Amino acid sequence: MDLREISLYAEEIARGAGEILLKGFRSPGTVVDYKSDSDLVTSVDRESEEYLYSRIRQRYPDHAIVAEEGSRSHSAEDLIWYVDPLDGTNNFAHGIPMFCVSIGVYSRRREAVVAGVVYDPFHDELFSAARDSGAFLNGERIRVSRINALSIAMLATGFPYDKATSSNNNLREFCSIVPRIQGIRRMGAAALDLSFVACGRFDGFWELKLKPWDSAAGSLLVEEAGGAITKYDGSRYEPEYPEIVASNGILHQKILDALQPG
Ligand code: IPD
Ligand code: CA
Ligand code: CA
Repeated sequence: MDLREISLYAEEIARGAGEILLKGFRSPGTVVDYKSDSDLVTSVDRESEEYLYSRIRQRYPDHAIVAEEGSRSHSAEDLIWYVDPLDGTNNFAHGIPMFCVSIGVYSRRREAVVAGVVYDPFHDELFSAARDSGAFLNGERIRVSRINALSIAMLATGFPYDKATSSNNNLREFCSIVPRIQGIRRMGAAALDLSFVACGRFDGFWELKLKPWDSAAGSLLVEEAGGAITKYDGSRYEPEYPEIVASNGILHQKILDALQPG
């Protein structure tokens, strides 16, 4: 498997999808549908997904694909492409310029994400990583921050779409952590949150009920930038597992502790 080739291809198609997002951003032609009261999808999510799905199929017809809006390509081959065609769709629909394309490639054999690309077309920021080769922002090497105390840390989080009906909605954790830290941001795009941890803008991030297309690419960016990403209990990150904590590594245990009840 040529990881570099896969990674470069993921970059190329993320840029292509980014053009689709930019064309539809703040455009009267973009149609919004509601999956539920708070979970929406736009015509641009679907257009971006169709583009990404066909480009991956074209080049790697035997790879598996799992994309958020339902496109699936089943295969027992080693690699699975986890695709979020538009992460931050609520921002997008409200005209807020914080959204991205997220593509993570997972190896079943290695039980690890091996390539990851997150592209924010509005700011033209392309985050990319291939396993054991470092993490990059627009071609420049990136590293996590060196902040070593929660009191001076900038953290990020998010709230699940079922926050009104489920008590497991992150409010307990949010209330417990906010008084202990310097600042909190809720940017609305988990893949960008992870990218920001990777490049040191955020010192940590936690969220529950995430999907593999939200976290796979960003997880590798964080690891390759020298940070840590785990489940809430500190065990190894797995894309299908919904609760994650990512950090610069130095703060990791402190954030895990702060998330525990009591
Ligand atoms: C959502 C965003 C958001 C996070 C949600 C995700 P979407 O993805 O990443 O920040 O809080 O859990 O579902 O719906 O914009 O692709
Ligand atoms: Ca998403
Ligand atoms: Ca999405």
